[in-house]
Formats: sequence, C-alpha cells, structure tokens
Amino acid sequence: MILGVNVDHVATLRQARLATEPEPLMAATLAILGGADGITVHLREDRRHINDRDLWLMRELISCELNLEMAATPEMTDIALEVGPDMVTLVPEKRQELTTEGGLDLRAQRAKLRAAIKKLKDRGIPVSLFVNPEKKDIEASKAAGADMVEIHTGMYANAKGPAAEAELKRIYAAAGHALDAGLSVNAGHGLNYFNVMKIAEIKGLRGLYIGHSIISRAVLVGMERAVREMKGLIGKAA
Ligand code: PXP
Repeated sequence: MILGVNVDHVATLRQARLATEPEPLMAATLAILGGADGITVHLREDRRHINDRDLWLMRELISCELNLEMAATPEMTDIALEVGPDMVTLVPEKRQELTTEGGLDLRAQRAKLRAAIKKLKDRGIPVSLFVNPEKKDIEASKAAGADMVEIHTGMYANAKGPAAEAELKRIYAAAGHALDAGLSVNAGHGLNYFNVMKIAEIKGLRGLYIGHSIISRAVLVGMERAVREMKGLIGKAA
C-alpha cells in the first residue's frame, strides 16, 4: 500500500514569516528517504501555503508519485495540464476553511467535475475524487469518469467509541462499493499514528494520504523517522 505524504504544512510554516524557509521540496526529499511512496501538495486558489514555484520544483525533482490536490476550476485544470503531475485529486475548496472540510458535493459540482476529469484524463493524468464514505458518492464518482476515489476518513478520525466504530463501518462499506465499481481506492484525512491501522487493514486499499500527523511528528523527531514510523504501522496492518 502506498503512503503519500502531504507537505503543505511545511509551506504554511514558511508563509507564517513570508520567508524562504523551510523549503517544502527539502521536506519532500526527506520524506522519500524515510519511505514515502508519493508526495502530495494542495495548490489553493489563494496560494496560502504551496505556490506555483513549489509545484514546478516538485515536478522537476520528485521522481515518485506527485499527487496534485486541487479544486476543479479552469485555472487549476490549466496548471495541472501544464505541470503534469502523476495524478490529481479533486477536492472541494473554501477560502475560509482551515483544511479540506468534507468530501466533494458530486451533485452540485457535477458539470465542473466532469469537465475537469475529461481534460485531465485526455492528457493521461489519472484522477481521484475526495469523497465522503457514501455509496451514492462512489456511484457518482464512477459516473463522472474518475479513476480513483479517496475516501474521507476525517469523520472517523474525529469520532470516539461507538461513533468511531460506526464511521469505520461506513468507510469499509464505501471501499467495498468502490472496488466493486472498478475504482482504485485511497483514503485520507485526519489519520495519525493511533488510528491509521484500522484503515490500513481495508482489503484492496491502494494508498493512504497523510499530512498533519506526519509533519507534526517530524517537527520533533525529524521527517525521515516520522515517515518510517508511519510506514511501519501501515505495513503491520496491511
Ligand atoms: N487527503 C485530502 C484530500 C486532503 O485534503 C488532506 C488535507 O490536506 C489530506 C488527505 C491529509 O489530511 P491530514 O493533513 O489530516 O493528514
């Protein structure tokens, strides 16, 4: 199972001082040394952390999977077509949010999503949709032409006790529906060193996309070790 490490928070730290360090590319390189199979960056409309230069540098220098997270807007689609990431994950994006808050609203965004997916796929870029763990959203992803889904694990990560168990069941069911529909299945959001194993146990899962917990640990123990420890947990569960 692949582990994609999201390095947006390194850029957030840089932007806190509008400075030139820390450099997200260096963090990405260290993450790869620690065992990351891929690097994720979210280029936001307001460029609040990752900027266009970061994305171009990553494209030039990162040879493992570069996953570009983005909103399905014409501006971002044009950038993706120019840069050519190894895959794109389409996410909902609100200016005021601290992080991606929920899965895509596939009904409301249907036309926008279909247009972006078609353009990206015509250029040979595989597309994943960030979705809530619901059958209707899996079906809509398939109908929209996506290759993959990333199941939103944030509700599970925030829940406790029986509520967490219920969320886990929803995620397992959604993963099953997605696999049956012929989609590749990823998961992510809110995963950490304590809750990741239950998700990594899902049969047939392609990959996990993790940012906050790895970068937080990296601040204390270093990036290579933080990634290696996460890979170890995933390896034990998968
Ligand atoms: N997957 C998606 C689609 C995201 O938007 C994010 C947050 O940027 C993540 C995964 C990683 O979430 P976290 O930082 O909570 O690990």
